[in-house]
Amino acid sequence: MWTEHWMNGMWVFPFIMIIVMLFVVFMIFGRGGFRPPWSNNDNYYSNKPKETPLDVLKKRYANGEISKEEFDKIKNDIIMNAESCDINDKGNSCCSSKPEVKEVNLKEHWNKVFTNSPDEKLGWYETDLTPTLGLISTTGLNKNARVLNVGAGSTTLIDELLTKGYSNLIATDLSEVALKRLADRVGEVNVECITDDLTNPSNLKNIAPVDLWVDRAVLHFFTEKNEQDIYFDLLKNKVKSNGFVLLAEYNLNGATVCAGLPIHRYSKEMLIEKLGSDFELIDNFDHTYLMPSGAERPYIYALFQKK
Ligand SMILES: C[S@@+](CC[C@H](N)C(=O)[O-])C[C@H]1O[C@@H](n2cnc3c(N)ncnc32)[C@H](O)[C@@H]1O
Repeated sequence: MWTEHWMNGMWVFPFIMIIVMLFVVFMIFGRGGFRPPWSNNDNYYSNKPKETPLDVLKKRYANGEISKEEFDKIKNDIIMNAESCDINDKGNSCCSSKPEVKEVNLKEHWNKVFTNSPDEKLGWYETDLTPTLGLISTTGLNKNARVLNVGAGSTTLIDELLTKGYSNLIATDLSEVALKRLADRVGEVNVECITDDLTNPSNLKNIAPVDLWVDRAVLHFFTEKNEQDIYFDLLKNKVKSNGFVLLAEYNLNGATVCAGLPIHRYSKEMLIEKLGSDFELIDNFDHTYLMPSGAERPYIYALFQKK
């Protein structure tokens, strides 16, 4: 009786087998190419490169979905967001926009960065300048010392130094937009502003030597050896004997991308080698800067004195 019942139900199994096989074939081949059923990634096993946010944006612009103004604004947002990438992200996800930016004119790039963002939103904006001010105090320089802040941007360091009574301050930057913002804030008469390129200097070649050269978050943007050579030649030429050099750059645990640009990170040994035997290391330490977004950015701070 039971066997008869089972035999009667046997006809169902071939149908179930066919449905299962059709399902498996669809999961493997029916979703844009071969990939396992458990994968939701459209690029699994595919040679097609993953679309970056910029690729998507370009498509939308090409399709007429957004205007040129919207395109430029969103492109800038994507570039600025690269600043928030995880420090261990070695060029993936949002950081993959960097080669795009390297191709554009850097002066234009930095002018746009400053035009499109208030100071407090910039990924390097500081309210606590203790590491820099501590090292400047270590120099023992007097308040008339000639201080050159390279790649100053619209830094609050100038405000702090003016408050402390320093009276001979020079700020230089590639971006005239940044320098104008700085001069408007602290007063044109209180800081000499020089627009110039540290990797191709012209005006800077003619300035009188300085007692202190301060660089926070600028040198690390110079990824090519020839750019670094030009920077260090200018520095060695413009710092007086017994004068000081304060460098604060991303350390070897730092991010590989900042403001959408690739970074060359530094250790103490690398800085010593770059400065050469004419400069003595006075002090150095690691410092973790917290971006306005709350993300951590590890820096190395180093103070040198020229012999
Ligand atoms: C990350 S910001 C740091 C600004 C400032 N030092 C601070 O700590 O707030 C980098 C600055 O370097 C400037 N910069 C980039 N490349 C430069 C170059 N080749 N010559 C001069 N300045 C440059 C940018 O315009 C920008 O103001």
